[in-house]
Amino acid sequence: MSRLLDPMHRRHIERLGIGPGARTLEAGCGNGSMSAWLAGRVAPGGRAVAVDLDLSLADADEPGLELRQADILAGPVGPGDFDLVTARAVLHHVADAEAAVANLVASVRPGGAILLIEPDFLPVSVAEPPEVRVFWEGWLAWSREQRIDYFIGRRLPAMLSTLGLQDVGATAETALYNGGSGWALYWEQTVTELRARLVGSGRLADRSIDTFLAQCADPAWWTQTIAFTAASGRAPGG
Ligand SMILES: C[S@@+](CC[C@H](N)C(=O)[O-])C[C@H]1O[C@@H](n2cnc3c(N)ncnc32)[C@H](O)[C@@H]1O
Repeated sequence: MSRLLDPMHRRHIERLGIGPGARTLEAGCGNGSMSAWLAGRVAPGGRAVAVDLDLSLADADEPGLELRQADILAGPVGPGDFDLVTARAVLHHVADAEAAVANLVASVRPGGAILLIEPDFLPVSVAEPPEVRVFWEGWLAWSREQRIDYFIGRRLPAMLSTLGLQDVGATAETALYNGGSGWALYWEQTVTELRARLVGSGRLADRSIDTFLAQCADPAWWTQTIAFTAASGRAPGG
């Protein structure tokens, strides 16, 4: 996932003008690849803090990178003076996304930036062939039961505005990918890993999963799944 999404994430951070000397916070850092890159970008004189509930995948071997085990629902991340706070593909998993965003906003210094990148599964509504749309309908029904919000992307700008951020803006970008590509492999691995749970939920039939996996292996099949929505804003003051 980080290989697929880091280039887009880096572009948004570059646009926000984060450079040497800045203090950055990444929430839900996963394997830490973005924070490792940030640590290099803010050197000399800067600091990249990365937090996650589970740091077992993160690689701490980067000068200027500080890893912390933390729950973004528990409160703001200290010392609350970050020039950039960012999170990617995290908020759709948390029980109370509004509370998490409020905590992240409270971690930004006055005048600092926040950048949130989350999925919006709008593109699956036009996926072809129709059997693939049936697969996604089952997937989304299952995810709703798991309390995963795969349509949170479209809600991000309003969340930031409500919290008083300035210069709020958002864009969404969608990869069009074909069978055998990196995204197809991502979905093949994810669905295969979850297959027993998906079928056990009664929301997806084995046959539907087989159809989807066959498409993922076909280079002639082109499709789109997620509109990754990047929303940013600036804390007032500063
Ligand atoms: C889908 S992964 C995304 C990882 C990384 N941001 C990326 O885009 O590659 C979601 C990450 O968020 C973390 N996470 C979920 N809920 C969290 C919370 N309440 N506080 C901190 N991290 C959380 C998970 O442990 C996981 O590492």
